[in-house]
Amino acid sequence: MTSSGAILGELFTEAGRADPYPLYVKLHELGPAEHVDGPFFVVNGYHEVNSVLRNPGFGKWAQSAQAWPEIADHPSLTRFGTSILDTNPPDHTRVRRLMATVFTPRRVAALAPAVTAIVGDRLDKMAEAGADGSPVDFMDEFAFRVPVSVICELIGIPEADRYRFRALMQDVAIALEIVSDLSTLGPADAAMLEIEEYFTALVAERRAAPRDDLTSALIHDADQDDGRLSEEELLSNLVLLLLAGFETTTNLLGNGLAVLFDRPRLAAGLRAGTIPAAGFVEEVLRFDSPVQLTSRLAMTDGLQVAGIPVPKGSEVMLLLGAANWDPARFPEPERFDPGRPDNQPLSFGAGAHFCLGAALARLEAATAFPLLLDRFPNLAAAEDAERIRNDRLVLRGYQTFPVVVS
Ligand code: HEM
Repeated sequence: MTSSGAILGELFTEAGRADPYPLYVKLHELGPAEHVDGPFFVVNGYHEVNSVLRNPGFGKWAQSAQAWPEIADHPSLTRFGTSILDTNPPDHTRVRRLMATVFTPRRVAALAPAVTAIVGDRLDKMAEAGADGSPVDFMDEFAFRVPVSVICELIGIPEADRYRFRALMQDVAIALEIVSDLSTLGPADAAMLEIEEYFTALVAERRAAPRDDLTSALIHDADQDDGRLSEEELLSNLVLLLLAGFETTTNLLGNGLAVLFDRPRLAAGLRAGTIPAAGFVEEVLRFDSPVQLTSRLAMTDGLQVAGIPVPKGSEVMLLLGAANWDPARFPEPERFDPGRPDNQPLSFGAGAHFCLGAALARLEAATAFPLLLDRFPNLAAAEDAERIRNDRLVLRGYQTFPVVVS
């Protein structure tokens, strides 16, 4: 029998990154969780991943230079250490509460007209670029620009500054994969420094002249003298919101379009309204999750996963993408079914760190797909240019996706 260690080894190869799903199937055959080696565990079962995410005994690594001196020179690793993504209570609870007020379902629903307008604008641009039948890169022209515009509107980043973030994020993403050699982080560190500089300047500007945006609201919190938000936390969480706010949603749109092109009947159903957009989006999230894995640290004694003791200090890799393909939770997981009953994939995580932007991402995708299909009845993959994956495991998506619109 193949061991989980060997399967994980394959997952981190180029072929594993290109298509991790056959490896997830093999992992499920071994069981829902495995002790891989030393202080290292892997969890792939839906119920087991869900329960680790909801168990406060499992926390974040807190990737601060203080906790882990060898990463001190790598801003691409340390920056998120002071954001809500990588902190534990009480810091996480304190700051997340401040940020959550902006992303309540009511506030997100109120953004619907703005999202529709942004989508409409990008469709106009795609129509223009592809009017003569030439291929348009869906990833660059639409999948990136819609979510980056939405999150930048919220944060208060002017339009002229937005479009360079895709290239910068592509470099930062190196640090968000499993990093085994810190010397590969040069481009990620340089990109992170550039983003930090950008936000330092934006914060100074908004502090001098506040506006009705998220940056100004968080500066207001940082300027209170009750310690509710430090200057460092302000910067880290703005960087986090920007990067988490577009990259994952970009990939949701690209992964969803691939599903549509591979299954033409779905596109017809979405166009006719017989397949609800929300069900389609939820199944794309399950079927090809934009975030494939996260991890946790065992912070207390006496923890177990699937009956396997997990000693304090162990690292637990949580394969969200595999959990979404757990046949015990989702019958025939390889079948794309937008009508799947009780479809609750773990693509946005669960528990204390459940994605803050989940409602916004769902709104963007459920708005984008029907409008895209309505606008371009002849939308198709470009014949002489292939779609290319981004060669990443954690943040799964396409680098380029050429389409024709007329
Ligand atoms: C399809 C799109 C998205 C996916 C798949 C996604 C996925 C995730 C996942 C899996 C986590 C939890 C990570 C963990 O537990 O270790 C997370 C956290 C987070 N996401 Fe998203 N996300 C998406 C869109 C967004 C958007 C649009 C925003 C911003 C508006 C956002 C902001 C955040 C933030 C701030 C956190 C940290 C929450 C915390 O740790 O308390 N995400 N996201």
